Amino acid sequence: PRPGGAGGARKKLALIFRASHERPNGAWHGYHEGMSNRVAVVPGSFDPLTLGHLDVIERAAGLYDELHVLVVHNPGKEALLPIAQRVSLIEQAIAERGVKGSIVVAAWSVGLLVDYCTDVGAQVLVKGIRSQIDVAYETPMAIVNRHLAHVETVFLLPDPSHALVSSSLVRQVSQLGGDVSPFVPPAVARYLDTGARGI
Ligand code: PNS
Repeated sequence: PRPGGAGGARKKLALIFRASHERPNGAWHGYHEGMSNRVAVVPGSFDPLTLGHLDVIERAAGLYDELHVLVVHNPGKEALLPIAQRVSLIEQAIAERGVKGSIVVAAWSVGLLVDYCTDVGAQVLVKGIRSQIDVAYETPMAIVNRHLAHVETVFLLPDPSHALVSSSLVRQVSQLGGDVSPFVPPAVARYLDTGARGI
C-alpha cells in the first residue's frame, strides 16, 4: 500500500484520539493551545482557477502559517485542463498577484482529501462560500471530513464582486470563444486565450 495512505491515516487518527483523552480540558487539537505551525489546505478542482479562488487563497494565506493549495480531481466534473496545467496556472497567478505567505501548490489524486491533510499536518480545510447553494454543497463534505480525521472546515466569504463567478461558467464561456478575462487571473486568461487552443 501507498505510504501515508488510508491505512497510515487511520493509525494517525488513533493517536489523535489518545491525545484527546489525555488532555485535562477535553480539547483534542493542539492548535487552540499555541501550536506553532498552523497549516491549512484550500482544496478544489480549480478547472480553471478563478478570481474568486485567488481571493480566498490570498485571505487564507494571511490567516495560516502554511497554506497548501491542492488540486483534486473531481470525478463528477468533466475536466477542461490537465491537472499539471492547473497547478502551474495557480503558481503563476499567486506569483503575479504577489500573494504573501508560505504557499505550496500540489495535486492529489490517490485517496481521500483528509489523507493529504494528515500527511502535511493540516487540521483545517478552507473553502470559499458564495451563496446558500455553496453552503448546501459544502456542508456534507465538511461533516464527512471532520468525522474521517477531525479536520475542520473554515468557510471564507470572497469579495462580493466574485459572487457570480464559477469555474463551470468560465469553462463554458472559454469553450464557446468568449472573453473570460474579467473572471480569471491574467495567467489563466492568457492560457485560455492561447495555450488551451494550442496557438
Ligand atoms: O472545486 P470542487 O470540484 O468543488 O472541489 C471538490 C473537492 C475536489 C474538494 C471534493 O470533491 C473532494 O474533497 N474530493 C476528494 C475526495 C474525498 O476526500 N472525498 C470524501 C470527502 S468529501
